[in-house]
Amino acid sequence: MAAACTALFISVQSQKSTISIIPQPASVVQEDAGFILPHELFIILPQHEELKKIAGRLAAQLSAATGYDVKINEGNTPVRKSIFLSLSGDKSIPKEGYRLQVTTNGITLTAAEPAGIFYGVQTLLQLLPKEIVSKPAIKKDEWVIPVVTIEDHPRFGWRGIMLDVSRHFFTKEQVKEYIDEMVKYKFNLLHLHLTDDQGWRIEIKSLPKLTEVGSWRVDKTGTFGKFSPPAPSEPRTSGGFYTHDDIKELVQYAKDRFVNILPEIDIPGHSLAAIASYPELVCTPGTYKVNSGEQFMIWPGGGQHFYGLLDNTLCPANEKVYEFLDKVFTEVAQLFPFEYIHMGGDETARNFWEKSPLIKAMMKKEKLKDLNEVQSYFVKRVEKIINAKGKKMIGWDEILDGGLAPNAAVMSWRGMKGGIEAAKQGHEVVMSPTDFAYIDYMQGDAVLEPPVYATLRLKKAYQFEPVPEGVNAALIKGGQANLWTEQVYNTRHLQYMTWPRGFAIAEALWSPKDKRDWNNFSARVEKQFERSDAAQVKYAPSIYDPIFEVSKKDTATIMVKLSTEIDGLSIHYSFDNSFPDQYYAKYTAPLTVPKDAVTMKVITYRDNKAMGRMMVMPVTELRRRAGIK
Ligand code: ACM
Repeated sequence: MAAACTALFISVQSQKSTISIIPQPASVVQEDAGFILPHELFIILPQHEELKKIAGRLAAQLSAATGYDVKINEGNTPVRKSIFLSLSGDKSIPKEGYRLQVTTNGITLTAAEPAGIFYGVQTLLQLLPKEIVSKPAIKKDEWVIPVVTIEDHPRFGWRGIMLDVSRHFFTKEQVKEYIDEMVKYKFNLLHLHLTDDQGWRIEIKSLPKLTEVGSWRVDKTGTFGKFSPPAPSEPRTSGGFYTHDDIKELVQYAKDRFVNILPEIDIPGHSLAAIASYPELVCTPGTYKVNSGEQFMIWPGGGQHFYGLLDNTLCPANEKVYEFLDKVFTEVAQLFPFEYIHMGGDETARNFWEKSPLIKAMMKKEKLKDLNEVQSYFVKRVEKIINAKGKKMIGWDEILDGGLAPNAAVMSWRGMKGGIEAAKQGHEVVMSPTDFAYIDYMQGDAVLEPPVYATLRLKKAYQFEPVPEGVNAALIKGGQANLWTEQVYNTRHLQYMTWPRGFAIAEALWSPKDKRDWNNFSARVEKQFERSDAAQVKYAPSIYDPIFEVSKKDTATIMVKLSTEIDGLSIHYSFDNSFPDQYYAKYTAPLTVPKDAVTMKVITYRDNKAMGRMMVMPVTELRRRAGIK
């Protein structure tokens, strides 16, 4: 009897495969059975253009992976063992939501609108074995989908990632690939940071120099921001831009995947590329070049305001600037159907404005008492231009300084406080605070990660909560992760920086708040890593690397406390310069660094398998962190 029970238990257990979906759906009810994909598979749907496109791409993916014959049938009658897509007037399915029912007889996916069907398909793909995304295809004897009912819808309507295509340019095809990766996790907004000091990336037909001059800089390799100043003889061959046709193609590609593209023209700061093209736009006459990654801004820290070594701002006191912006926003508004245009507004260096006779005269004329009010005057005029093109304006939270423009939405990046303030004033808000959502930051220890000036670990990103206490939640449209690309030189690294933190942000923006749980999430992240490996998408394995906490025991002795972001890893270390493995000393309690040690080497293991990367920590670095001279 006991043996029979055990056997039964094992067989039931083995049937119930673990469902692991990111972002976590609102409701998942699983049964101990599976639907086996038939070799001849129908996707059945009503006659509907958008659904047909979704079904066509699903069919292509299924047949490429399985080798099965997958057919589209616009019949609207369910057939046994098929995938049945249907749009329903059922008001119980919220916006972008879906109901996915997998039985042993087939799959039914219902939504109130095509976007919901699209998200249901993303979930369905995550229910299939990881080989469904494999490159190259790996044949399986059977493709089984767990029997399950999933009811799901997003928590927020704005689920974004910002990609900076100025500091490093990414081609139209590379942006499409990025969209493909985003939508797997139900992101629906791509914010393109199209202009900055290092490049102007969008064709403006009425202002051709923006791309003839403004899109090109000198190609340098090393650490951006610390490059040698370019010589006049060095060719400006690095860069690129999107033509009107490119933008139209990208917008359509995104639309077919239910992604809006938010264009950003970052003004009045960060405008060197525009100034290099049209020098009359700056308050400070001179000769200007697109920045090639050499230092030109100073960030003194210690509460001091940053300043420019040259003037990289559009001149708010020059009427020509508003004529220029009218032309730019006319074309931008025509190209991008999304209801918002982002005008930047962040990090305007003020040191040249302080000295400018033009600004002084304008302050007198317009009765502006300080430079915050000068910037606010500029932003309000920009809002009028953008509104006149039929668009709403959004800007970084600096647009609050000196008084917010009447209709502006605010993207809060210097923490949540700008967003809180804007919401208190009744304005719409998108949250993208550095503390949780800056995916350009390092995701682990600086001795391992490519250098960036700050760190954001996955566990911290997962704590992102877009609605702060005490604000009107209806004004918080959602949030986004921001990927600045000063230190992102290629698409593999673009992926590395985006994943897995993009998973965390996706879940913060999609899943019900009460469904979020770090241990559960991190286990699903590990499952996603297997899919990313199969799909040849790079991700950061930093959750496997230990966290160092360094302190001083006495004036000469360093204490090291080690921990890990996820459970179940053992940490092994050496101080003798050799490489530790699982047979080396296992970390159990804070360590004292031996007096003469030169390096501490650390690695994590699980089940006899190295999980983390070999961390080589110089003792000089430990001493620095401990504050020992
Ligand atoms: C920003 O990170 N400067 C918006």
